[in-house]
Amino acid sequence: MKEDRGKITRRLFLGKVAISGAIGAGILAALGALREVIPPLAKENKKFTIGKLYDFPLNTLFLIAAHNVFIYRDYEGVRALSAVCTHLGCVLEATGEGLQCPCHGSRFNDKGRVLSGPALRSLAYFKVDVAPDGQLLVDISQKVSYDKKLKIM
Ligand code: FES
Repeated sequence: MKEDRGKITRRLFLGKVAISGAIGAGILAALGALREVIPPLAKENKKFTIGKLYDFPLNTLFLIAAHNVFIYRDYEGVRALSAVCTHLGCVLEATGEGLQCPCHGSRFNDKGRVLSGPALRSLAYFKVDVAPDGQLLVDISQKVSYDKKLKIM
């Protein structure tokens, strides 16, 4: 019987296609995982102005959608609260009783503490200051405690 070397059989071809597909899927999965671990190359601006103090209503969580931050102003001061769910990073929605995640249902009170999971960690607070032009300046590179609000005189 004559051996036909170099001829690709249907079985061999399908095997190579399956292996190529598996390798491609593995590479895509690895790139997706790396994207979660490695911070984006383009640096996000960590400090930004958001407007004047009285642009923000009293006792209301006001979402700055461009930066995923809630601003909360009361008679004592102003706080900037992360709007990013600590479970898997969805943007939270303000409800009458606090904050709710539209992705998996975690709920936080208006101070950012977890009321129900799957999220386990409270939301972060960021430093708020006044810029030279009088606008509020939020710095999301500086986390602060709940007590460290920008005090209003
Ligand atoms: S991302 Fe918010 S509960 Fe999962």
